[in-house]
Amino acid sequence: MLSKMPSRRLTTLLAGSSAFVIFIFLLRTAFSTGSSSSSSDPFPLLSTVSAPPPIPKWNQPRKDIHKTYNLPLAPPLLIGFTRSWPILLQAVVSYITAGWPPSQIYVVENTGTQLANKHGKLSLQNPFFLNHTQLGSVLGVNIIQTPVLLSFAQLQNYYLHLALTRDWPYYFWSHQDVLTLSFEAGLDDVTPPYNQPGYKTVYELGCQALHEARTAQDERDEKWAVRFFAYDHLALVNPAAYEAVGGWDTLIPYYMTDCDMHSRLLMDNWTMLDAPGGTVTDTSSALRDLAALYRMDGVEPDLVDPNPPAPPEEADTSDKRHTKRRGQGARKAQGGGQQEENADSINNKASDPNLDYYWALRHASDLMFWSKHGERGRNTWQGGQHGGQGEPYHYPAEGFAEAIDVVTEAGREVYRRKWGHRDCDLIAGAGLKIDDQWRVEKDWKD
Ligand SMILES: *[C@@H]1O[C@H](CO)[C@@H](O)[C@H](O)[C@H]1NC(C)=O
Ligand SMILES: *[C@@H]1O[C@H](CO)[C@@H](O)[C@H](O)[C@H]1NC(C)=O
Repeated sequence: MLSKMPSRRLTTLLAGSSAFVIFIFLLRTAFSTGSSSSSSDPFPLLSTVSAPPPIPKWNQPRKDIHKTYNLPLAPPLLIGFTRSWPILLQAVVSYITAGWPPSQIYVVENTGTQLANKHGKLSLQNPFFLNHTQLGSVLGVNIIQTPVLLSFAQLQNYYLHLALTRDWPYYFWSHQDVLTLSFEAGLDDVTPPYNQPGYKTVYELGCQALHEARTAQDERDEKWAVRFFAYDHLALVNPAAYEAVGGWDTLIPYYMTDCDMHSRLLMDNWTMLDAPGGTVTDTSSALRDLAALYRMDGVEPDLVDPNPPAPPEEADTSDKRHTKRRGQGARKAQGGGQQEENADSINNKASDPNLDYYWALRHASDLMFWSKHGERGRNTWQGGQHGGQGEPYHYPAEGFAEAIDVVTEAGREVYRRKWGHRDCDLIAGAGLKIDDQWRVEKDWKD
């Protein structure tokens, strides 16, 4: 039952890891679109209020849910931010409205701009812009700043540092470019729909998975390292596992560093398993108005991109779009991470305005996914921020993107020399063990 590496995970690793594709992608999109359009405030309402609107009541976290799952600490969720404020704000707001308590969300500002954002010195058109007031005072989430701009691998080790210095026995982390929804229409064997007893939000399912991991450790000596949700868009980490293998290799700063880390965990017999959590879609566009996530009256859940491409195969946008077939297509296309709600609630959707709205959000998130990954893909994102000239720590945009590519390639070379292998499949493909690092000849011919 507890296979050490589920095949889907292996596929992920072989594919070279979506996490880093996403990360690099985000670094690049912020700078590489030729568009001259500017970013608009994704959530105008926030500037006019001192508290956000109430979240859908079925997603309101019950007090101290974590205690129901015998968790000594309400689990923190870390979301790293380097650039693209509208995308980050969407991720944060979507976690809150899906039921994650704001007081347990930590945005880790990793912009390399020192106190510029804290002191309101950057403008919305600056890629590194982040509004501390909106995140902190209004939404009630925590903000932690990295002391300098960190690479992806360094940021992961910084998360570990936070866990160790704050005595967090576990933490969740998520990418900043996701839109998260709880399974409000229900999912077989996971949760009933939002209006039935026993409904569980993404937060509660996270607590449950954590409880199961801790139980597996206590009762079956499972050495659990990571639980992945929705592909690897959200992950639950056991800091003890990261420590046991010496943390992330910061000499492999971006691409391939997760292959290195995850392979070392598996080589040392730590487990990485998948668990259901919610629909966590990766995206490079944002809803026109994030008030939609609060289901506010009169706000349509539509996108900033006015003309996202239709999904391949199924350009049909009629009501058939929420049939099982469509769900399976989307699931496959999104890397197997998106689970599908049960057919009963799909068939009943027309009778319930709450579910209608939920499906409209799901549809918007699907379009965002296709807008990011479809043919028109990377060059069409219209929300890019290209300004900020003259502001503190300004860095030429094109140069930044090019430099990241150079550093990324250097990291690949470190990986190749470290393992004598070019691909991600260090265990299954190359048969390597943990002591082989920096001790093996290369296994390919030039
Ligand atoms: C940041 O948020 C505050 C509070 O919502 C708002 O008053 C302010 O105008 C925002 N700053 C910028 C630069 O958008
Ligand atoms: C991992 O488990 C296998 C099988 O139980 C064992 O042979 C091996 O020595 C273990 N490896 C490590 C590094 O603990």
